[in-house]
Amino acid sequence: LSIAQRASTGALPPGRTVDELVRLAHERYAGVDDGAVADYIPVLAEADPRRFGLAVVGVDGERHEAGDTDVAFSIQSISKAFVLALVCEELGHRAVRERVGVNNTGLPFNSVIALELNAGSPSNPMVNAGAIATTALLPAASAEERWERVRDGLSRFAGRDLELDETVYVSEAETNQRNRAIAKLLQSYDRLDVDPLETVDVYTRQCALAVTAHDLAVMGATLADGGTNPVTGEQVVSAEVCRDTLAVLASCGLYERSGDWLFEIGLPAKSGVSGGIVAVAPGKGALGAYSPRLDAAGNSVRGQRACAYLSRALGLNLF
Ligand code: DON
Repeated sequence: LSIAQRASTGALPPGRTVDELVRLAHERYAGVDDGAVADYIPVLAEADPRRFGLAVVGVDGERHEAGDTDVAFSIQSISKAFVLALVCEELGHRAVRERVGVNNTGLPFNSVIALELNAGSPSNPMVNAGAIATTALLPAASAEERWERVRDGLSRFAGRDLELDETVYVSEAETNQRNRAIAKLLQSYDRLDVDPLETVDVYTRQCALAVTAHDLAVMGATLADGGTNPVTGEQVVSAEVCRDTLAVLASCGLYERSGDWLFEIGLPAKSGVSGGIVAVAPGKGALGAYSPRLDAAGNSVRGQRACAYLSRALGLNLF
């Protein structure tokens, strides 16, 4: 099949081809040493920059992988995508749009000025301000219950019980003054109905959940599959919620680089500062990538290159 034909078949190409292409993508980019491991969260600086894992999971549950796909790392900002889905499932599309927003800020993920320029609106659920506001919307009687709902919800996307990386949590909790300031600023604009510091604590834990590249691919494939986890068969969220979530990922998933990403790769996706990326091909499946060296916007360098290659080679680009 030509790439254009594959793009319209509504399926991944036949199994062996995907295996070969995933291995080839791994080989092609394993030698790329550009970028730097994140260090603003102290423990992330200890990540092994040589790690590189690529995983593909199809909507029928098939899996293809190469490299370090079972190495655990903290999910970081990728959690924002799945918490958004859980909140959309609970409160609906309109509440998220009104309370958080769905437009790109054009500014870095931890920008304070973006809040000030937008009269206290966090703009979208993928920047830190918007993610803290989104976590705050999840119905819960206490911070502990909110955390349990996040952990349980993300575990259902992954199809296994996800656990907190305690070291990452403690390291970030000791150094997250900026996120605490952002939450207080949101409160000053009347944008939070729950305690700001308790919410930041839940958000910090959600970012410290440990996942693998394979988990990311399963989580993404659940969004590709109309909300049904292709491995466990559980309906985690509705098909409408997948559509809402993927629209936000397309416009905001790679921060101020989201336009570049969509132009080059053509898939809704989400990155995180520990070096993970999930990219979703609706109706087909998802890619999970892990490699800790990041570019200036906080996106994995090898992960981006490998996703670009696989999007082309597997005919996944939506456009
Ligand atoms: O709040 C933070 O800064 C981190 N827990 C997550 C940031 C992140 O992953 C942004 N990614 N590119």
